[in-house]
Formats: sequence, structure tokens, C-alpha cells
Amino acid sequence: MKNPTLTVEDLQKAGALLRAGEVVAFPTETVYGLGANALDEIACAKIFALKGRPADNPLIIHIASLDMLDELTEITPMARKLAKAFWPGPLTMVLPKKPGIPDIVSAGLYTVGIRFPSHPTAQELIRSAGQPIAAPSANLSGRPSPTTAKHVAEDFIDQLLILDSGPVEIGLESTVIDVSGEHPILLRPGFITINQLEKILDQKVRLANLEDARRPAAPGMKYRHYAPKGDLRLVTTRDQALKQHQELRDQHKTEPLCILTEHPDQSWPDHLEVFLIAKHGDLETYARNMFAALRYADSSGYQSIIMEAVPAEGLGLAIMNRLEKAAKKA
Ligand code: TXA
Ligand code: MG
Repeated sequence: MKNPTLTVEDLQKAGALLRAGEVVAFPTETVYGLGANALDEIACAKIFALKGRPADNPLIIHIASLDMLDELTEITPMARKLAKAFWPGPLTMVLPKKPGIPDIVSAGLYTVGIRFPSHPTAQELIRSAGQPIAAPSANLSGRPSPTTAKHVAEDFIDQLLILDSGPVEIGLESTVIDVSGEHPILLRPGFITINQLEKILDQKVRLANLEDARRPAAPGMKYRHYAPKGDLRLVTTRDQALKQHQELRDQHKTEPLCILTEHPDQSWPDHLEVFLIAKHGDLETYARNMFAALRYADSSGYQSIIMEAVPAEGLGLAIMNRLEKAAKKA
């Protein structure tokens, strides 16, 4: 899915900007990222300012070779196994942090999140910069993550260089696993599932709970995330969808957008405004289109949104993790 219009010169220019302490947006296989030189404190501070990100929510550092790990962390046996199985790819590992990493990146924690993305443009950019790149998702804090360059431009109009490689492949952010302690803890579900992780580690992976969110070790969990501007309701059945439709229309006096799946043996009533997100049960397509659907609802001015939930298993766990946060008020 590489954009043929992206040239070597674009990458060189982006690399030079990063070396000069500027921020650049770039594609990864999960979502677009907002990158800065991870070892440059002032450059990383610009990311927090641009996004409006709370200072206690740390950034993930992106690398393009295992050699880059040396100055960032001491790799543990658990991390070595996971790196072998899933890197490059959509997995972030939280590991003990080395002193060279500015405190702003890790939000003052003793650990740091590290990811080796598989997207060729991300890898080329990191190599062009010659430095590891700290990057959160390239959206304003709290908004749905960007899966196209256009989404990034919506949130940061004319503020930065955006490397456009077309739509991303996966559509939701990396799985985050804390392997800094004795037992692995899943901090954020993603494309790589608990089952896959447990198989490689040959032990149980505990899902972080609200208690963990109150501890400083998993700061990102406590914030509202991924939210559209419209009032979002999740439904599981056809009856619920129709009932919510009635309620939302009465409440907001406008037509809700219904983000629904295509069922093999039933169609949705004609009077609904439907965005068909995927075939029923096709979770990979659902994940890829989820944030784009929420952003479409916003850019089309819908005041309310009904979205079909999926079973919270496998990739569905990651999808529902995002949707439940997106639907939460406050
Ligand atoms: O797929 C992704 O991970 C994308 C692309 C751009 O790589 N990045 C991304 O970053 O989603 P961000 O900042 O939106 O989410 C990073 C998550 C946050 O929830 C943060 O709290 C958590 O990772 N995190 C980062 N470092 C951590 C650490 N040392 N300990 C615990 N959680 C950490
Ligand atoms: Mg994010």
C-alpha cells in the first residue's frame, strides 16, 4: 500500500527535519504516527504540545533495527522471544529504560515502550533520521486515531510535513505488553492477540485492569480516547439498533449515522442512514475501517452515532477496547 508519489527526496527531507528537532507525521502498519527524535527532549516536547497530550502519558519509541535497542533498554529473555516472533510488527514492549532517554518520553517512568514497525516507510524514515523516533498516534489527544494522511491533516492543518503512503493496513494501534517485570501484563489489546502472546511466552498473560490504570505503570489507560464528536452508542442486536435509532433521533432531532455490519441473511431497514463497515464477522476489515467510520461521522456533522459491537475475543477484544472508550462520556 505504498504511495508511489512518495519519493526518496521526501524521506530525506523528513529525516533532515527530524534531525533538526522537528516533528513529522508518518505511516505505520497500525495507524499514522507523529514522530520526533526520541533522544531530543525539546523535539519530544513539541509532540505533547501539538497533540495537547497530558505529560503523564508516555510515548512509544520506534526502532528500525535490533541494534537500536542497545541505547534504549536491556532486552530481557521474555522480550527476546516476543521480538523474534512479532517484530517487525504491531507489538509494543514496555521494558526497563536506559538513562539516555529523556524523562519526557517515558513520562518519568523507569520503563519505556518500544516498537519495531513493519511499514517500509516507517523503517526508511527511522533510518533516514538515523535515530529512534518517539511517536504517538498522529491525532489530537482524545480523537480517533488516523488511518490516512487526510485524517492527520484534519487534526493538524498546515502544521507539519505528512508522509502519505495511503491508508494503513491494520487500522488500530499496536498491542502493548509490559515485559519489564516478572510476569507479562497486557496494557493495550491490539492486532496481536493474548493467545498469540501466551503461545510464544508459554505462560499466562494477564489483562491490565482498572487497578493497573490507577498505578503509574499504565498511564494511557485512564484517559478518554478515540472519541468522535457525536454521541456514540454501541449495540449488539438488530432490535437494540432500531430502538437506539428512535431514541437518538428524538433526543438530537437529527438523523443518527448507523455504522453496521453486512449480515448474510438480513438487510437493514431503508430508513436508516447506514455506513456498512465490514461483512459480519470480518474483524480485520472492521478494525481497518473503524476510526475512518468515526471520523466520517464527525466530518459529515452527525450528532449521534450507532455502532454495532463485536464479540470481545481475539481481535474483537482490541476493537471493543477502543469502542468502549470512544463511547464513554467524560
Ligand atoms: O500502533 C501504535 O502503537 C501507534 C503507532 C504510531 O506506532 N502509536 C500509538 O501511540 O498508539 P500512543 O501514544 O497513541 O499510545 C501509546 C500507549 C499509551 O497508552 C501509553 O500510555 C502506553 O502506550 N505506553 C507508552 N510507554 C509506556 C510505558 N513505559 N509504560 C506503560 N505504558 C506505556
Ligand atoms: Mg493514541
